[in-house]
Amino acid sequence: MIKILPSLLSADFTRLAFEVESVERGGADMLHLDVMDGHFVPNLTFGPPLVASVNKCTNMALDCHLMISHPLRYVDAFAKAGADWISFHIEAQDEPGKVLDALERLGVKAGIAINPDTTLYRLRPLLPRLQMVLVMSVFPGFGGQKFIPEVVPRIKELREMGFTGEIEVDGGIDVTTAPIVAAAGATMLVAGSAVFKPQDRAAAITAIRAAACGAQV
Ligand code: DX5
Ligand code: ZN
Repeated sequence: MIKILPSLLSADFTRLAFEVESVERGGADMLHLDVMDGHFVPNLTFGPPLVASVNKCTNMALDCHLMISHPLRYVDAFAKAGADWISFHIEAQDEPGKVLDALERLGVKAGIAINPDTTLYRLRPLLPRLQMVLVMSVFPGFGGQKFIPEVVPRIKELREMGFTGEIEVDGGIDVTTAPIVAAAGATMLVAGSAVFKPQDRAAAITAIRAAACGAQV
């Protein structure tokens, strides 16, 4: 089943509760929260206090995408703030096995994100411990970037490696690119600008879901 995850990064932060409610009412399955530390990526966003505030105004599951150099230092705080899913980057500085130990201890669903230019083989030994792999379809750091089509074969390769968990794709997902990644086997589609730019969020979510479901094998 395809899940649509609006990325809060493209929302209007002056009226956060309204924005969150608009996508929840519009049929979003989960909410994607992009955490950036100004070090792992050249941009800064928000931390656990904002995640806790968002958690108060929605029943949607929260998917925290940590674009930070030291995920191990912060996973406890994000879990406490209400994160249901936490993904960290394989390119981050901490030992991935130790981060996964922490996520298992905290009882949150674990994902590892991978940049477009990192070899998938780095994930192979960790796959049995993951509920999700986040295949980046842009270089992380900013919303509104153009989808990189060269990452699509990676989705199939993950399945060929025997990975049966969720495959999330993040970056440049819209009605045109959603069917391409869904056909390759992606199950969780993150969409920032394609959901939050239009006034009618329900229509945007429905259109992306319909395009993706129509292409699923
Ligand atoms: C990029 C973030 C994405 C971003 C997606 O670093 O991880 O989640 O918000 O935004 P769009 O859908 O506009 O590419
Ligand atoms: Zn993201």
